[in-house]
This record gives sequence, C-alpha cells and structure tokens, in this order.
Amino acid sequence: MVIGIPGEIKTNENRVSATPAGVSSLLIRGHSVLVQSGAGEGSGFLDSEYAEAGAEIVDTAQEVFRRADMIVKVKEPQPSECEMLREGQILFTYLHLASSVELTKSLLERKITGIAYETVQLDDGSLPLLIPMSRIAGRLSVQVGADLLLKYKGGRGILLGGSPGVEAGKVLIIGAGTVGESAARIAVGLGAKVTVMDINPVKLAWIDELYQGRINTLYSNEYEIAAQVRKADLLIGAVLVPGAKAPKLVSEDMVRTMKNGSVIVDVAIDQGGSIETIDRATTHENPSYVKHGVVHYSVANMPGAVPRTSTKALEGATLPYIALVADKKLVAFGGNKALKLGLNTYNGMLTNDAVAASHGMKYTPFK
Ligand SMILES: NC(=O)c1ccc[n+]([C@@H]2O[C@H](COP(=O)([O-])OP(=O)(O)OC[C@H]3O[C@@H](n4cnc5c(N)ncnc54)[C@H](O)[C@@H]3O)[C@@H](O)[C@H]2O)c1
Repeated sequence: MVIGIPGEIKTNENRVSATPAGVSSLLIRGHSVLVQSGAGEGSGFLDSEYAEAGAEIVDTAQEVFRRADMIVKVKEPQPSECEMLREGQILFTYLHLASSVELTKSLLERKITGIAYETVQLDDGSLPLLIPMSRIAGRLSVQVGADLLLKYKGGRGILLGGSPGVEAGKVLIIGAGTVGESAARIAVGLGAKVTVMDINPVKLAWIDELYQGRINTLYSNEYEIAAQVRKADLLIGAVLVPGAKAPKLVSEDMVRTMKNGSVIVDVAIDQGGSIETIDRATTHENPSYVKHGVVHYSVANMPGAVPRTSTKALEGATLPYIALVADKKLVAFGGNKALKLGLNTYNGMLTNDAVAASHGMKYTPFK
C-alpha cells in the first residue's frame, strides 16, 4: 500500500503522523511511504532522515493526496485537505466528527474510509490512541505549573521541591485518571507534597498502593475540595466525566481563598474546564492570566507544546493499527474489534453510532 504523510496545516500543529523510525517499519512490511517535504520539521525530523529511512520525499500535499492509498495525519482534515481526498481513500487521523457535521458530510460525500484515532477502543473501554496525549498533558501540567510559580512569571516564588529546612510546595490534583496519575508522578519526582482527589475508590487505592504513603489520597467532594484548594500552591484540574462537559468542581469563591501567586492548571479545559474562574481556553503564545491574584493556565492542546515527544508517543500507539490497515485493508476491521470501533465512515455510510446520534444521522454498522 502507498501511505501518505502530509505536513499538518492546522494553526500551531507541529506534530507529524510518522517519524523516520515509523516510516522504516512500514517499509520493512513491504509498503511505500510518501512524505511531504518539511512535514517533520516542527517535530525536529528532517527530510534527509525520512529519505534515509526509505521514504520518497514529495514537494506538495497535493501529490501526497493524489498518490497515496492511505493518508495518515494528526489533526482532522482542514477544508483545503478535504478537497484533495479521493473516493475510496483511507484517512487515519484524529477526526472528532461528533463536533463537526460539515466534516462528517464531506467524508461521507467523498466516500472516504475514515478511521478516527479517538474512537479506537479496547474491550476494557480504554482509548489507546488518546491515552498517550493524556499522559503527556498530565506530566506537562506540573512542569508548566512549576514554571508559573516562579516569581518573575507572576507566581508565588515557590520551589515545588522546597529545600532542606524549608517546606515543599503543595500540589493538589483533582482527578486520578491518566492525566492525574501522570501529574502526580512528576510532582512526587520534584519533591512536592502531593494530594490526589477522585470519586473512584479504585483509582485512589491504586495510587495509595503504588506510592506507599508518598501521596495523600482523598475522596472528592465539595467540602474536601474547598479545604484543599485553600492550601494548594499548584492546583491541577484533571477530571473527566465520559461524554459530558467537565463538572465545575472548584467554585470562584474557592479560588478567592487561594494564596496570591498560586497557580491553577486546568487540563480538563478541552471538556469545558473544571474551575469556575476558567471560562476560556488559552493559547501556547498567551497561556496564562491572573484572576483573584491566582495565575490561571488553560491551554486546550497541551501536548502541542512538546511536539517531538508527542509525535513519538502518538506514533508508538498508532503505528500497530496503521500497519494492520496497510497490511490487511478492509479485512483488518473484521479481525480487530478496537480498530473496527475506530471506523467512522465507509463508502458513504456513517459507521459510528455515537457520531450518527450526535448529528441525528443514520448509523450503518460496518459488515
Ligand atoms: N488540555 C489538554 O491538552 C488535554 C490533553 C489530554 C487530556 N485532556 C483532558 O484531561 C481530562 C482528564 O483526562 P484523563 O485521560 O485523565 O481522563 P480519565 O478518564 O483517565 O480520568 C478522569 C478521572 O476523573 C475522575 N472524576 C470524575 N468526576 C470527578 C469528581 N467529581 N471529582 C474528582 N474526580 C472525578 C474519574 O473518576 C477519573 O478517574 C479530560 O477532560 C481530557 O479531555 C486535556
């Protein structure tokens, strides 16, 4: 199969869907790979590295879209990319069709085999192609928070690890899922005093067991959140209620009780945010603002700040599925339940029930 790797054109997207290492493993399986010149630049991969790995470097996205049987991307196709898609072509990327009826219709009209990273789902309900980005956002949340606590960044002037004879900084993490656990790991590593809250006792028990008392775990409820928020130097919002907007767990009154120069990083902003004083996503260029003396950070695409790490982490998760589709084409969906759930559009049919329901459109299961 001919696999195409175009450069990403969405604003501020510096990731790329395959690295030279990924290209090399696809070539070993007998496929050929076209890489648009400069596609890897944002993640620090040069054309010469792709060429050395065996890819054919082509000048334009048009050529990639014209010649490839399968287009592998990171972000959902932009209108100019949709125009280049050809009937029957396979498109494997984050699609987020539930939030765009235009894109859904466009893929259906063009009879695209659209596979969405975000709906590939394992038997236990986990989303293997989203988890790597949650891990990165969680780990990054503490790094960003530690930076914003610096005095010259508007923070309280606190070193999270403290110093011998000086108290460590207090990190409060609400939500003990992938983001929360990843944040906790880094905060502990920095030597901070860490508290993790969740409503799920299994998650709390797991963290308690793993960190052997090094992390304080607490059941999440309004009373306890209010008591903990007041003490926190760094508050990290990491909750998720599947299929719903994030609950506003930290009220404006609670934020008012925080110390001047303390920091909030709301990772859950992509689901609307879990902090009442955060009502909008910020950008990597202008990531934080101060409200009630507290520094607020709410970037919705945190992994975009570390594109090289994110590209490698994403490829590590996606490559086995990309290889499966390349090797087996449509037969791949029959033999792999997780991948089949990733199939959103096929031959003009909407093959994902959740996407169909969100647009009031007809759902047709793939057979
Ligand atoms: N900003 C970004 O760049 C970025 C990147 C990745 C993920 N995210 C977002 O981060 C959030 C967390 O993602 P995740 O992968 O860790 O999800 P997850 O499902 O692994 O974990 C969410 C946790 O929240 C807990 N929770 C639900 N209600 C709660 C409550 N009332 N109090 C305390 N805990 C509660 C759940 O029990 C669960 O353990 C999501 O909104 C996700 O979309 C954002």
